[in-house]
Amino acid sequence: MAKGLPSSGGAASQLDSFYGPQAEHYDRFRERLLHGRAEMLKALDIQVGHHIAEIGAGTGRTVEFYRDQLDTLGHVDLVDLCEPLLRQAKVRLNNHTKVSVHHADACTWQPAQPLDRVYFSYSLTMIPPWFAAIDNAYNNLALGGLIGVVDFQVAPRGGSSRGFKQGKLGRFFWPFWFDHDGVRLNSDLLAYLQYRFETVEVREMRSSIPYMPGLQVPYFIFIGRKRSKES
Ligand SMILES: C[S@@+](CC[C@H](N)C(=O)[O-])C[C@H]1O[C@@H](n2cnc3c(N)ncnc32)[C@H](O)[C@@H]1O
Repeated sequence: MAKGLPSSGGAASQLDSFYGPQAEHYDRFRERLLHGRAEMLKALDIQVGHHIAEIGAGTGRTVEFYRDQLDTLGHVDLVDLCEPLLRQAKVRLNNHTKVSVHHADACTWQPAQPLDRVYFSYSLTMIPPWFAAIDNAYNNLALGGLIGVVDFQVAPRGGSSRGFKQGKLGRFFWPFWFDHDGVRLNSDLLAYLQYRFETVEVREMRSSIPYMPGLQVPYFIFIGRKRSKES
């Protein structure tokens, strides 16, 4: 992570050169950084027969949170632009018949059939046109289907619609700190999700950061439904 995400080149080659050298050890460090993934997936209410996609799936780590349900599911699509991380996903899932791994862009990938569940785990803040990735996920969901998102956040000035607040220093420091690794915190992200989907659940919290004792970074969990009738 010390090298940071390169600032030039296409998105796929930037991700490959950032994650390539750390792909084999990626999960170990992220266990203590990426909080709330199991909780988001529990709230996503994955059911028998569901067709699910994770967008920005990386090594496929999050599948471990519902691995005991895999055989009962319709299908799981793992989508990512980074080859070295997807190679780890393939090793992890060892050609499981219920899982397909796609080297594709979050903003344009399309499933073979509408999805019952789609989720983003700490990937939207790494996708510069995050609004296009959300729009694409919306289009790929079946009516009534659910989206789940867990990600870092920066509260809007004056606080979020739910009253979650952050001091001036935190609102400046965390976006600056994460930017080095291509993670772009955006106070509009949660608001856009709430605009696009019917809100089922929002949680806004803070978590610890490895090697930064005493500091806590804000993150959120969002569960939203694609409305059955366009409104
Ligand atoms: C912080 S990692 C999270 C990985 C995984 N979701 C997890 O929870 O462990 C962010 C992921 O988003 C992927 N990503 C970034 N931009 C992308 C894009 N435009 N399309 C698809 N995936 C993308 C990265 O390659 C990376 O695997």
